[in-house]
Amino acid sequence: MTVLALDNVSKRFGPIEVLHGVDLALEPGEVHALIGENGAGKSTIMKILGGFLDPTAGQVLLDGQPVHFASGPQAEAQGIVVIHQEFNLAPDLSVAANVFLGREAGAWRLDHAAMRDATAALLKRLDTSIDPDARIRDLSVPDRQMVEIAKALSRQARVLIMDEPSAVLTHREVGALYAQIDRLRAEGVAILYCSHRLDEVAHLADRITVLRDGRVVRQALRGELTEDGMATAMVGRELQDFYPPKGQPGDAPALEVRGLTVPGRVRDVSLTLRRGEVLGIAGLVGSGRTELAEGLVGLRPATGEIRVEGRPVAIRSLRDAFAAGLAYLTEDRKEAGLLLDKGLRENLTLATLERFGAWRLDTAAEDAALDRATREFDIRAPRRDMLAGKLSGGNQQKLLLAKVMLPDPRIIIIDEPTRGIDVGTKRQIYAFIRKLAAEGRSLIVISSEMTEVIGLSDRVLVMREGRLAGEVAGQAMTEDNIVRLAMGVTGDVA
Ligand SMILES: Nc1ncnc2c1ncn2[C@@H]1O[C@H](COP(=O)(O)OP(=O)(O)OP(=O)(O)O)[C@@H](O)[C@H]1O
Ligand SMILES: [Mg+2]
Repeated sequence: MTVLALDNVSKRFGPIEVLHGVDLALEPGEVHALIGENGAGKSTIMKILGGFLDPTAGQVLLDGQPVHFASGPQAEAQGIVVIHQEFNLAPDLSVAANVFLGREAGAWRLDHAAMRDATAALLKRLDTSIDPDARIRDLSVPDRQMVEIAKALSRQARVLIMDEPSAVLTHREVGALYAQIDRLRAEGVAILYCSHRLDEVAHLADRITVLRDGRVVRQALRGELTEDGMATAMVGRELQDFYPPKGQPGDAPALEVRGLTVPGRVRDVSLTLRRGEVLGIAGLVGSGRTELAEGLVGLRPATGEIRVEGRPVAIRSLRDAFAAGLAYLTEDRKEAGLLLDKGLRENLTLATLERFGAWRLDTAAEDAALDRATREFDIRAPRRDMLAGKLSGGNQQKLLLAKVMLPDPRIIIIDEPTRGIDVGTKRQIYAFIRKLAAEGRSLIVISSEMTEVIGLSDRVLVMREGRLAGEVAGQAMTEDNIVRLAMGVTGDVA
């Protein structure tokens, strides 16, 4: 029994066809995972199913009958609810208002207190302590995603479509999400789930559809595909040597930090980053990793001493940080970063132009920069002259990374480098980070993915409750040791 299906669906944007004859069937009580490289067409499929885009050819079937949804809300009225890859929240409204947005006037006739209570109950079910009265603007990225999820749960879904819901979530929140997915599955909801975390796909999915370049290349049932098998099917070739060999950092300090304190968030952190080193920073969410980075690059008021290549520097703004040779890629990429209604070239060079004031690049130089960026970061853009907003989510991320690297910084701080990036491209980004280090640049990589932080770093600092809890390197760089430090478990660190 199929609830919602695509029957031989193709989709064209202008002259470019991005989906070619896709068949997909969603069954009640099943989690169906949709996987594929960045730009394979996953979000496009989800938008077609959710009524946000029309297919160019083929049909959408609801309960076996062809349907045409004129809009997302129209599909939602039929019980088809979408959590989009990009946030769809009103930043200036409260959490509760967002959860009920578009519904206040309906048969519900909820007053504010009732809306707030219902929202609080939903959030409690998701095991979070977000205040229903908080404004979205003031929430962290993971909290915003939890509000998106709460909003979707508040609708009576027959079909729930989730486009990378977990990409920005932390371990604990992911657990709460899984619990809700299990509950909905048991209630007979059909779930379409997209993720680049293949371990999560293996854990959740009853059925997997693999998409490559807009075509379904593989369908499998639970247990029929290993994580390696998924990666191979997505990319179309075997992936080996996931992490590049580590380097030989020099002894010269590139960045020395003494007693850095960000009031209320980070206390008395001292660290030394060597030239050519990749320094990982691990820790639980809320341990102050992002706040440490933000304090370093002038995005938060901080006290303490910072030296760059031996010279004391005063960093009070991002501009000061740039001037000192630091670059920062924020984890908050959905908010800060790209101008979605500008072209790729403009996006790539904009920050660099601003930074250097009067100096400007000519078009040829901009073109060359875009060429290089597309190659080095494997940005898959169907056209060079497209708007940044029309790139797939993962490719937007790659463009941002390229933008940060353009002014040739000496010290690079990256918060969550591969969120939303497909498994094949991850390797490219890891290789790129290593190459930067081999060239004598120094990197700090904050990551919640344990395998990533271990596979990529020369040394890992672990944060706990705003302080440095310890350091691991060489053989001691194990998941177990890092978790112990992060959780404050005492005992031998072997
Ligand atoms: N509105 C649009 N106009 C033109 N091209 C588009 C538009 N939306 C998507 N595309 C293109 O369609 C292709 C598929 O994009 P889609 O967003 O579906 O990929 P995806 O599988 O979700 O990737 P990711 O993992 O990066 O999120 C990409 O090449 C993208 O650039
Ligand atoms: Mg997508």
